Amino acid sequence: MIVITGTPGTGKTTIAKELGKTLNKPVFSEIDLISGKKIGEKNKDNEFEVELESLEKEINRLSEDCIVEGHMLCEIKTPASIVIVLRCDPKKLEKRLLKRHYKTRKVNENICCELIDYCLQKAEEHYPHVISVNASGSPEETLSKTINAVKGKFTGDLVDWSSQIAEFSKKQTPK
Ligand SMILES: Nc1ncnc2c1ncn2[C@@H]1O[C@H](COP(=O)(O)OP(=O)(O)OP(=O)(O)O)[C@@H](O)[C@H]1O
Ligand SMILES: [Mg+2]
Repeated sequence: MIVITGTPGTGKTTIAKELGKTLNKPVFSEIDLISGKKIGEKNKDNEFEVELESLEKEINRLSEDCIVEGHMLCEIKTPASIVIVLRCDPKKLEKRLLKRHYKTRKVNENICCELIDYCLQKAEEHYPHVISVNASGSPEETLSKTINAVKGKFTGDLVDWSSQIAEFSKKQTPK
């Protein structure tokens, strides 16, 4: 099993789909695994809160030879032998999320997660080996690095957005 996780908007669905075509493996999205099943409910902000234990059970039911993608996969332990965390330059991520008409609060929440390596750190808590792929470039470039990572020919990108934290927090401070 290959897991692709990362902050919303980093390109998990896009890359997982293409990777599935290239490797001829079925692709599952965590959203498809949870929708229709009563393993979560909407909170007061109309956001879907998922019971992670139930998601874990659904993933354990899948065949070993597949690709699963989703941002919550960094929060749980799955039988994955390869775990890829897609990363994206926060400035580019902002553009991608605004294009989707995300509310400012949601955009900022996700930028914040990316700035502090949230998904990478969480994934490293749950898996012994995690590969970071910088997905700030074109989808083609990201796909090619992801394929190489799966084949063991690419050990990952070193990503550090910390120099952008001060600028981001300044923008958040009320005047
Ligand atoms: N290098 C890249 N890799 C993947 N997607 C990219 C890349 N560059 C731009 N994109 C674009 O970013 C957008 C977000 O991609 P996608 O929906 O696959 O993200 P996601 O990580 O699955 O988000 P979510 O967690 O909300 O489902 C898409 O419009 C996609 O075309
Ligand atoms: Mg997606």
